[in-house]
Amino acid sequence: MTLRTLGRTSLSITPLGMGCWPITGITSIDINEVDSLATIRAAFDAGITFFDTAYCYGYEGESEQMVARVLRQDREKIVLASKGGIHWVARKQVRCGRPETLRLECDESLRRLQTDRIDLYYLHAPDPSVPIEESAGAIGELIQQGKVLSAGLSNANVETLDRFHRACPLTAFQPHFNMLQREIEDGPLPWCVEHGVAVVVYWPLMKGLLAGHLPREHVFGVKDGRNKYPMFSGDEWQKNQDFLDVLRAIAIEIGRPVSQIVLNWTIRRPGITAALCGAKRPYQIRENAESLSWSLTSDQIVRINKAITERGPIVSKAAVS
Ligand SMILES: NC(=O)c1ccc[n+]([C@@H]2O[C@H](COP(=O)([O-])OP(=O)(O)OC[C@H]3O[C@@H](n4cnc5c(N)ncnc54)[C@H](OP(=O)(O)O)[C@@H]3O)[C@@H](O)[C@H]2O)c1
Repeated sequence: MTLRTLGRTSLSITPLGMGCWPITGITSIDINEVDSLATIRAAFDAGITFFDTAYCYGYEGESEQMVARVLRQDREKIVLASKGGIHWVARKQVRCGRPETLRLECDESLRRLQTDRIDLYYLHAPDPSVPIEESAGAIGELIQQGKVLSAGLSNANVETLDRFHRACPLTAFQPHFNMLQREIEDGPLPWCVEHGVAVVVYWPLMKGLLAGHLPREHVFGVKDGRNKYPMFSGDEWQKNQDFLDVLRAIAIEIGRPVSQIVLNWTIRRPGITAALCGAKRPYQIRENAESLSWSLTSDQIVRINKAITERGPIVSKAAVS
């Protein structure tokens, strides 16, 4: 995989990163530790060297711990991103961007990750009760102390990005983005391009929907966390399946899975630095890692873009995870 530069740092990342949220099993179903550890290993073995986790991935930080268990020996070969500023209280996520909390959470993440530094440390989401400059300043101090190499911000608008960046230069922004959710193109994305900030997107496969493997008649079980999102039910689901039928036809032509078409398109969008793919099984991440070894033709891109326009955007609030 051809590497890309992470913002203005000297770090190089693979344009596909492994998202280490699903392996915690909080919103995903049918998870077990053996598969989760094997999926992390499969990502690395398939050439992915960019790993994204967070303090709140797992009620007790299980995601960071699993990443360390698998990749500790290969620490110098990977770029490790984590996030602070969200923790669990009674199994509900609570934002806290106070400097003292970020300091404590970063120390805990370093311990769980069994490393002396986190390459990219994001504020997971702005805390409305704390001025963003204070949260940014805390991450700036962590950089001065060498605990963190570069700063990131997730789930923010342009004004917040700008204020953060003035208080502590940003290396990366992490918003949601995929074929049907492209709100960032109207503000944050051009802002990042102008300021040399990397854009590392989550939900490229829209929590599995855009992998295209779930048939029209699929019934989501009660434990499946996707139940709470409108795009997985009713009329929206039918419209999404119509859209997927266009991608499925192209997939058959090329002889590749729909997931690879979606990731290939995503990574090649102007201004997108990397896409974070979550996976629960080794075969999924191996399949995803094959997304960039080929190119869509211009005719296929035109057909995809037409189908996107016809489907229309899905506007939904980012679900922080
Ligand atoms: N900053 C934030 O607030 C935030 C929020 C969300 C996510 N993230 C980050 O972004 C990452 C990606 O988001 P995500 O994991 O929620 O969503 P995603 O990458 O859009 O979708 C992941 C899901 O897609 C399915 N999948 C993946 N590869 C597949 C394949 N080749 N074939 C078939 N199905 C496949 C799997 O679900 P099934 O097998 O169940 O169908 C997997 O759990 C996260 O892991 C996390 O690191 C950050």
